[in-house]
Order: sequence, then C-alpha cells, then structure tokens
Amino acid sequence: MRLTDFDIYKDLLKEKSGLVITQDKAYLLESRLTPVATKWDFASLDLLTAHLRGVPDPKLINDIVEAMTTNETSFFRDMRPFDTFRDVVMPFLLKERMHERKFRIWCAAASSGQEPYSIAMLLKNQESQFARWTIDIVGTDISHDILAAAKKGLYSQFEVQRGLPVQMLVQYFKQEGDRWQISDDIKKMIEYKYFNLLDSMASMGQNDVIFCRNVLIYFDESDKRDILNRMAKQLKPDGFLFLGGAETVIGITDEFAPIPDLRGVYARKDSPHLEKKANTQNQALA
Ligand SMILES: C[S@@+](CC[C@H](N)C(=O)[O-])C[C@H]1O[C@@H](n2cnc3c(N)ncnc32)[C@H](O)[C@@H]1O
Repeated sequence: MRLTDFDIYKDLLKEKSGLVITQDKAYLLESRLTPVATKWDFASLDLLTAHLRGVPDPKLINDIVEAMTTNETSFFRDMRPFDTFRDVVMPFLLKERMHERKFRIWCAAASSGQEPYSIAMLLKNQESQFARWTIDIVGTDISHDILAAAKKGLYSQFEVQRGLPVQMLVQYFKQEGDRWQISDDIKKMIEYKYFNLLDSMASMGQNDVIFCRNVLIYFDESDKRDILNRMAKQLKPDGFLFLGGAETVIGITDEFAPIPDLRGVYARKDSPHLEKKANTQNQALA
C-alpha cells in the first residue's frame, strides 16, 4: 500500500475510533479491508481508497472502523480480575450498597459478550445474597456486528473451552448443534448498546464498577488520558476500575491510582480504597 493511501486509513481510524495503526500493520489494512471493498462493490482496495478522498457514506466509514477492530476475548479472561471481582468487589458492594440494594457495572469494551457474561454468571452464583437487588450490567462496544453476536450469546465449542469452568457451562448453557447458547436468565441481566469511547460519556451514568479491559492498548497516550479522565467522572468515588493486564493509569493520569494489593484494579484519586495505602505509608514514616 502506498504511504499516502496508508495515511488516509491511519487518520480516519484515529479520528473515528482512537485506533493507532503503524506502517508495519499495513498488511492488516489490506487483508481486513479487501472484503469491505467487495461488499461496497469496489473492484479493488485502491478504488475504495480513492473514494475515501471524497465524501464517503458514513455507513462505509463505519464498516471500515468495524473491520479494523480486534475483538479477541474469552470467558474469565486472565481469571484473576474475576477472582477479585468475586472475592473483593462483590462482598464490598453487598455491604456498602445494602441500603439502596442496587449497583451498576459498565463493560466498556464488551466485544462478543464473554466478559459481561462472566460477571453475570458470578453474580448469578450468589443469587440468594442479591435477592431483590437491582443490578444493572451494561455492555458497550464500537462494533455493531460484535454487539449483535454478544446479544445472541451463541458460542462455538472452541469459545466455551477457553476459560469457562465446566460446571458453569453445564449450568448456564444449552447445546444447540455444535454451538452453545447462554441461558435467557443470564442474557437478560445485560443490556448491550453501541458506545464509542471517544464520545461524551454523560449518558453512561454513575457506575460502581467499570471494566475497560484490553482496549486502551490500541490508543495513543493522549486518547488514553482523555478516556480515563472522563471515565473517572462516570465512576462512583468508592467504585472500581478494571484494566487489562498490559494497561495501567500510571504515567497517564492522576485521576486514578492502583488499589494496593489488587493488581489491575484502580480507584479514583479521592477513593477510600486508597486510604489504606496512605495510612500504611504514614505509619512507616512515623
Ligand atoms: C480486544 S477486545 C477486548 C474485549 C474484552 N474487554 C476483553 O478484555 O476480553 C477490544 C474491544 O474494544 C472495542 N473497541 C475498539 N475501539 C473502541 C472504541 N473507540 N470505543 C468502544 N469500543 C471500542 C472493539 O470493538 C473490541 O470489541
């Protein structure tokens, strides 16, 4: 691909989705966008690229953005964050939200649903403790196609073999031919909707927990900072932010800080979860 053509896609993807694409990934553009060119009746990728120099249909732009998203995910991905959610966050919410009996979880890059469904299954396992509670789980993503897959909740043998405990497979899925359908009980716990992390977050409300895992890695530092700073306003002061294993707030923003002893989990700078750290440091200094 010519450098000038590459730049068209680089600028478009950065502006529309935050995705940073480097010249060494030009081959990805070719392999993922050739089917888009075919779908839109362009005889070649070059013709699609030429068309983009004019005023393209927003639906075509959307197809390009979607084609370039990486939707890699799995049930209970990396396991540890879900152990933390079950062993630390759930007991905390049970105690601290006892009066209002409600809380809200936002999965900000939900992909095909494995992450929000993993959370929902953990909550369902403790159903008796949360009887008559209102628990909102909202899964958002920039890709309409992947959201449609998440809403269906129909997974291949390969997908359910990655990270999903057998006992949960038996309990919450039904086999349909060579696929596995998640139960309606779990499905109805989650609301899926389109949301671009670059857009205003005001509509995302106040959340007790935000999962924003394995998406910031695709953005440059300034977009990461901007997203995290805006996300801090959508998290309650005593809420929890989960990032992916290769992501951090350190060196990017001071609006969040790592919660001591909970790897990959962050709290707002004014959070009570950070007091423990300050107290321990003060004692050490005394
Ligand atoms: C690698 S998946 C991560 C899925 C899940 N959070 C996990 O950790 O397994 C990244 C997801 O982020 C979505 N995404 C990429 N850019 C986005 C944006 N600007 N706004 C919202 N979602 C975005 C992609 O469509 C993709 O489904």
